[in-house]
Amino acid sequence: MRKNIVAGNWKMNNDLGATATLITALKQKKNEGNAEVIIAPTFVNLYSAFDSLSDSNITVAAQNMHQAESGAYTGEISAGMLKGIGVDTVILGHSERRAYFHESDELLAQKVDSALKNNMRIIFCFGEELEDRKAGKEENVVGSQLKNALFHLDASAWSNIVLAYEPVWAIGTGETASPEQAQDMHAFIRKTVAEKYNSDVAENVSILYGGSVKPANAKEIFGKPDVDGGLIGGAALKADDFFDIVNAFA
Ligand code: PGA
Repeated sequence: MRKNIVAGNWKMNNDLGATATLITALKQKKNEGNAEVIIAPTFVNLYSAFDSLSDSNITVAAQNMHQAESGAYTGEISAGMLKGIGVDTVILGHSERRAYFHESDELLAQKVDSALKNNMRIIFCFGEELEDRKAGKEENVVGSQLKNALFHLDASAWSNIVLAYEPVWAIGTGETASPEQAQDMHAFIRKTVAEKYNSDVAENVSILYGGSVKPANAKEIFGKPDVDGGLIGGAALKADDFFDIVNAFA
């Protein structure tokens, strides 16, 4: 059966000291529900985060990685390097990576392959822009993002895939998809995966919602049958807010 997951994407926030402070606060919180808790600090603080969480149930993820194993790619970090410090989950395809760093579905397919080759779990983000939704094209956009980056995979690879539907218009804007909009899209995503693979793959994949999730709206969104948790940005930077969201599963 699929897992509930609440993942905090810290983006480019928190230096070494602030990372330690937030982790200390997170470790004092009680996870009262059944959700797996993941945090994704910046690359430079990943190892210290991983190390200080070794005695806790909180998992550490990277926010990105390069598709090559190694080589002349100045400034980049490979899946093998992440595995080497104990990090085995990576967020790929975040809309900020797509928008500001020109990451295409085709590039993301290569990153997906490299992560899976290194036995990593992927939190794969995708979602439509506001104009797509206004034009009624949100399912087309989401369907093709899935197909282009993930549908070359064998069914067996899907045990290492977590999906994160993040409508771009809801990220960091304070505007959240309504619980019904989230449920409708998650059901569409699950149906699309079932049609490509089978109902087993579709029923077992966790589909997270992301975009302005807060303590005040988490319970209602996570209460929908096809929503298996959230990818949290702004609200993941405060231990109280983040764990209020985690404990929406209590
Ligand atoms: P937000 O970000 O919660 O601040 O909207 C979500 C995300 O970017 O994953």
